[in-house]
Order: sequence, then structure tokens, then C-alpha cells
Amino acid sequence: MENQKVLDAVNKKTYARGDVVKHYENLDMLHKPERMLLERLTPEIKDKKILDIAIGGGRTTKYLLQISKDYTGIDYTPEFVEVAKRKYKDATILCCDARDLKEFADETFDFILFAFNSIDYIPHQDRMKALKESHRVLKKGGYFMFSTHNRDHESFNKLPWQEKFQFKLSYLKYCLYCLYHLPKHREMKKHEIHTDEFAVINDNAHGFSLLAYYISIPQQLKQLTAVGFTDIEIYDMDGERVTSDTRFPWTYYLAKK
Ligand SMILES: C[S@@+](CC[C@H](N)C(=O)[O-])C[C@H]1O[C@@H](n2cnc3c(N)ncnc32)[C@H](O)[C@@H]1O
Repeated sequence: MENQKVLDAVNKKTYARGDVVKHYENLDMLHKPERMLLERLTPEIKDKKILDIAIGGGRTTKYLLQISKDYTGIDYTPEFVEVAKRKYKDATILCCDARDLKEFADETFDFILFAFNSIDYIPHQDRMKALKESHRVLKKGGYFMFSTHNRDHESFNKLPWQEKFQFKLSYLKYCLYCLYHLPKHREMKKHEIHTDEFAVINDNAHGFSLLAYYISIPQQLKQLTAVGFTDIEIYDMDGERVTSDTRFPWTYYLAKK
């Protein structure tokens, strides 16, 4: 329980950091599975009600506004909300936590996106709350799409020197990055959680400054089914439909209510 509180506080603090806000402010490309699935869903969600959860600097806002002007973007970090409002002056963007969507009535949205593993910065009990809230505000027949870190990835929780040596400049640079941040990583490792269902680890993001949730595909399927989602499709980062994956650090899910 104590670790869960630490996780929330650590992640909130990191997301409010100036350099982190700047990083997401400058992103504007869709990931391959996002591009592919949005293209496929567009005929069904055109001009319908869309909720974009944890928008950061609004990377996905531009693309979703092209699908529907009936768009709401939310994020719990006020700094990100300000950035996104500045970039998309006419869009509805609110400061709101995915764990408590009380501003929205049951069955409001036709499509909900929770992109870029943003759900992974919420403690475990609250992850289930966030999934339940997304399910509650989604209309019957609506779609929920999100990505999450893959616990089955071959490099899960490994530093570069714990893997096969690569004679490449990028590998050497990555070793230096990890060495530089090693004292911080050692400190953060004290807060890691490893259970049969999931793990929370201090990965390399933003100078080893976050505690991120990792889950295998079978366990994520169980969580989604427990909340009531159906017709669950799973994609790897190449946009290939999968049932298991060790190749990629993230997995994409599309589910229906
Ligand atoms: C990895 S960034 C992704 C940003 C954006 N979705 C993108 O694709 O570029 C994670 C974002 O999730 C937000 N976030 C994390 N937990 C949240 C929560 N419980 N409710 C709302 N936003 C949250 C953070 O403030 C941050 O903007």
C-alpha cells in the first residue's frame, strides 16, 4: 500500500516537470497501431463523442479532432492541460483524473482513447478504478483503445549490460545514459512491486524518474474481462494482431462494451 502511494506521488511529480512537459508538447506522430486502428474505426466514430484520456501535450488531439469535433481531452497534470489548451484553443480540454470521471454521465462516449501507456502510471487498485470508469462512461457498443507496458518483453527490467553486447554507437550511448542515472535507479528500485498479476518497475523513461506498471497479455485480458469489456483485440507495436508477445515493450488493446 505504501509503495502504491509512493508510485502515485513520484509519477505526478515527474509529469509536472518542465523538461517532461516540453518532451510531450513536441510529439505529434501517431504510433503505427494507433494510425491503423483509427483509420479502421473512423467510419464508425466519425462525428461521434470522443474522450481522449491523459492527453499530455495533445499528441493525439489533432488526429481525433479530424474524426470528430465532439472531442474532450483530459489530463491530471495542470501543466499539460495548459499546453494542450494553448495548442487547441477550440477543443474541450479539462483537468481531470482517469480514476474519477464524475463530470461525465454513464454511457456518454462512443470512443475512448487512453494512449501511450498512460494507464501505467496509476497504482494497481486505481488502475481497476480507471478501467471501470472508462467502461462506465462508454456507450454500449462503443470502443476503448489503450496501450500498456508488456511484462513478457524479452528486455523487461534489464539494464543494457545484462543483455547481449552490441557493437553499436546507440548501444554504447544507452549504456552511458544508464550508468549516469544508476544511483537514482538504485534508489527508485526500492519502490518496485512484483506480483503474479503485474509488476511496477523503474524503467529508463525520463532519466529513470517514473514507476511504471507492466502486465502480460493474459493478465491484461483478465482485467478487461472482469470490468466487462468484450471483443478484445491485441496488437503489437508493428500493428500485427497477437495473442502473446516477447518482441515489443508495449501492447495495444482495442475492446468493446
Ligand atoms: C506517457 S504520457 C502520454 C501523453 C499522451 N497521451 C501522448 O500520447 O503523448 C502520460 C500522461 O498521462 C497523464 N496521466 C497519468 N495518470 C493520469 C491519470 N490518472 N489521469 C489523467 N491523466 C493521467 C500524465 O499527466 C501524462 O500527461
